[in-house]
Amino acid sequence: MEFESVHYFLEGKTILVTGATGFLAKLLMEKILRVQPNIKKLYLLLRAGNSEEAAQRLHHEVLSKDLFRVLRGQWGADFVSFISEKVLAVGGDVSVENLGVKDTELREKLWEETDTIINSAATTKFYERLDVAMGINTMGALHVLNFAKNCSKLQMLLHVSTAYVCGEGKGLVAEKPFHMGETLNGSSRLDINLEKLLAEEKLKELEAENASEKTISSVMKNLGTIRSNLHGWPNVYAFTKAMGEQILMNMKGDIPLIIARPTVILSTHSEPFPGWIEGVRTMDLFVAMYGKGKLRRSVGRRSTIIDAIPADMVINSMIVALEACSKSCSKALIYHIGSSLRNPFRISDLEDLAHQYFTKHPLTDMYGKPVASSKKVTWMSSVSSFHRYVNIRYMLALKGVKVMNKVCCYGHEAFYNESKEKVKKMVGIMRLYKPYLLFEGIFDDKNAENLRMRKMKGKDDDDVGRFNFDPTTIDWTHYMLNAHIPGLVKYGVK
Ligand SMILES: NC(=O)c1ccc[n+]([C@@H]2O[C@H](COP(=O)([O-])OP(=O)(O)OC[C@H]3O[C@@H](n4cnc5c(N)ncnc54)[C@H](OP(=O)(O)O)[C@@H]3O)[C@@H](O)[C@H]2O)c1
Repeated sequence: MEFESVHYFLEGKTILVTGATGFLAKLLMEKILRVQPNIKKLYLLLRAGNSEEAAQRLHHEVLSKDLFRVLRGQWGADFVSFISEKVLAVGGDVSVENLGVKDTELREKLWEETDTIINSAATTKFYERLDVAMGINTMGALHVLNFAKNCSKLQMLLHVSTAYVCGEGKGLVAEKPFHMGETLNGSSRLDINLEKLLAEEKLKELEAENASEKTISSVMKNLGTIRSNLHGWPNVYAFTKAMGEQILMNMKGDIPLIIARPTVILSTHSEPFPGWIEGVRTMDLFVAMYGKGKLRRSVGRRSTIIDAIPADMVINSMIVALEACSKSCSKALIYHIGSSLRNPFRISDLEDLAHQYFTKHPLTDMYGKPVASSKKVTWMSSVSSFHRYVNIRYMLALKGVKVMNKVCCYGHEAFYNESKEKVKKMVGIMRLYKPYLLFEGIFDDKNAENLRMRKMKGKDDDDVGRFNFDPTTIDWTHYMLNAHIPGLVKYGVK
């Protein structure tokens, strides 16, 4: 496998990206346009009924973001014409066949011109309706694969999955593919068609009963959790992403396939500038609630390694993998993109750094007054011990025994004498996050390391820096205090 300059590899490419309003896809688009203006075309599939709607979403939800300020600066007055020439917003929906591209002329144009497809569309909610999550994360993968099979010039399909398809992993988690029907507990066989049918039948049944939207949503979400747990996955997100991978690996035929499995994606490390992020995601909920003084108690261990990786490193690894596999890629390749093996970051580091940051830079309330951040978080080793603790205090409060009247976890505050519902909600949140707060696995990244090694020996030294995805280059203290937490406060925390 010989490396050429990565930015040269991008020249003249026609790339279709799904999930283009998403956090990761925006970064990908920005990077490609910044490093290789001579890309032929970027087709961006956005969830929309038609191209006009898609173009509106592109302008309002993508290009208007601060993320694009460097690219705007690079092009000045020509920015708009550059974008119009290189980018086309395509309205569609990955959960339907042909990616929901209704305009046949446009669809055929995409089939004729596209040489690379990057599937980043997903629902990333842990507690999602089974039908919705299957539609996007599982059937969506199939529809993207079928679309790829129609592309006469296709060179590569890169599917963005998640490292957490491994479930509640232990020990070294290998970059290995799933076989069709594989489960995580070995106690059952997974039949994807049956899962789909089950979701459809349940939905029909609820509709026939004239169930309210609220009931449908809650029943379908619970069904998602039940089916995921039955086959060994902790939540519907990981379950449906794993099924998406199974379909791709086993039905790909001749399509050259890369599966990127990032861990927890954080704000940018360096490019286009440090600290860009969107919203408050996964472990950032901890940071945000800590800053707001709303985190006192949580399930987790201070020693747990949180496998996290800055978003620009994820993008860089994806582009480098595309280039590498364009030379030789006899079999589908899976890449873990994370940090736990080579530069581990623990919950204790996160707590200490959040404490350091918010002591110096407290958040302010709506009147501009500084908010006291949380002090010390009490970590509990299981959801049941958390539940027991909360319940005992609730019962005591009901009996009029004076207890400290508040427990906070991730933004939900339970005042024992008033709200059993809130207690239930907090325990639910703990159940969702438990697999990650008590995670005992380390993600092996041999394939990703091979890419890095080959790249280091490659021809273009410039690429090594420009497409860096080496987790050992992250100085966690510096990154957290100067990029990530300030970025989160600026772009994410309300
Ligand atoms: N963020 C992380 O920490 C993380 C970690 C590991 C892996 N990943 C994976 O990385 C990828 C990107 O994640 P992200 O963080 O960028 O997620 P995100 O911000 O939630 O973006 C997801 C995108 O998918 C689009 N989408 C959802 N359903 C769709 C449909 N039916 N048709 C077309 N587009 C649809 C969304 O469009 P709308 O705007 O219309 O909703 C959105 O643009 C996902 O595959 C995710 O599983 C993410």
